Amino acid sequence: MKIGDVVIDPPVVLAPMAGITNHAFRLICRQLGAGAVWTEMISSFAIRYRNKRTFSMFDWTDTERPVAVQIFGGDPDAMALGAQVVESAGADIVDINLGCPVPKVRKTGAGSALMDDLDTARKVMAAVVGAVKVPVTVKTRIGPHGELTTAVDMARIAEDVGIVAVSVHGRTVEQRYTGNADWDIIAQVKGAVSIPVIGNGDARTPQDVRRMLEQTGCDAVMIGRAALGNPWLFKRSAHYLSTGELLPEPTLEERAETAREHLMMIVELHGESRAIREMRGQLSWYAKGLPCAAQHRRRVTEATTIEEMERVLVEMCMPRETDPHYSQEGE
Ligand SMILES: Cc1cc2nc3c(=O)[nH]c(=O)nc-3n(C[C@H](O)[C@H](O)[C@H](O)COP(=O)(O)O)c2cc1C
Repeated sequence: MKIGDVVIDPPVVLAPMAGITNHAFRLICRQLGAGAVWTEMISSFAIRYRNKRTFSMFDWTDTERPVAVQIFGGDPDAMALGAQVVESAGADIVDINLGCPVPKVRKTGAGSALMDDLDTARKVMAAVVGAVKVPVTVKTRIGPHGELTTAVDMARIAEDVGIVAVSVHGRTVEQRYTGNADWDIIAQVKGAVSIPVIGNGDARTPQDVRRMLEQTGCDAVMIGRAALGNPWLFKRSAHYLSTGELLPEPTLEERAETAREHLMMIVELHGESRAIREMRGQLSWYAKGLPCAAQHRRRVTEATTIEEMERVLVEMCMPRETDPHYSQEGE
């Protein structure tokens, strides 16, 4: 599938996740088969006011292309400027956040607040499309709440103003991350527009990815939470889509090696203390489902040096009988 002239292959992509989809994680996901990766959302106001911390989020490199850089804001001029700045910093695609349910974001008229105000949403989209040469996409939810689904209207407006693809997370704003994603509305959006539609919400396995493509007719599937500690899901999904064969889960060694690579990439990019802070969460996800996961998670949380974290990783991939923490503490 293509977003503008950007080829997305395979049609399985990494969702934007604030605080998570930074360069290291995006690169790991690309290396393990994601067709494209989304950055976390970046504030157009913070870009306008040249906030230093915000510019540290401009961390994409050639190694991870194609990369969609997501921006948010409710002011068309600020969004146009934000889009130009991320384009000149090398974004392959500019994505507009039209779904963030966080009150702090909504209060500024951004994110999902634009789902309550389709006129302003149109202005924001048109301003961004007019400001850059790279393809512009949007990511939205199915509607503000159960009685009001606006995704079809939003997608029609998007197509009308020159947006080239729309991602739909199958939950309402009110639901935030609870309940199940409604894939029927994703199918309705697909039926209503001729631009590519990316389905999102609750794709957790290669079989889910195929089911979402088949049930909704969407052009690609976007994966968020299921990729945490499990970036192999992209490769396994792509393989399943093209052959119908389910690859085995990664071995303990593969898990530990990828987690170690992830850790070292953050050390190299940001230094030890940030790597330790960031990897506490990430390594807990990598440990999920392993023998002694709870013990490994606790030890990772308590680790204060890279050496300690590496030691946990080595032990994480030991078979259960040789793991000293298993025999001492049980599962
Ligand atoms: C921790 C976290 C941060 C997120 N940050 C963003 C974001 O910055 N922009 C966005 O459009 N969606 C964001 N989302 C929503 C995801 O992109 C995705 O739509 C949602 O998790 C549903 O997909 P999933 O079921 O595959 O996780 C975030 C979700 C989580 C869990």
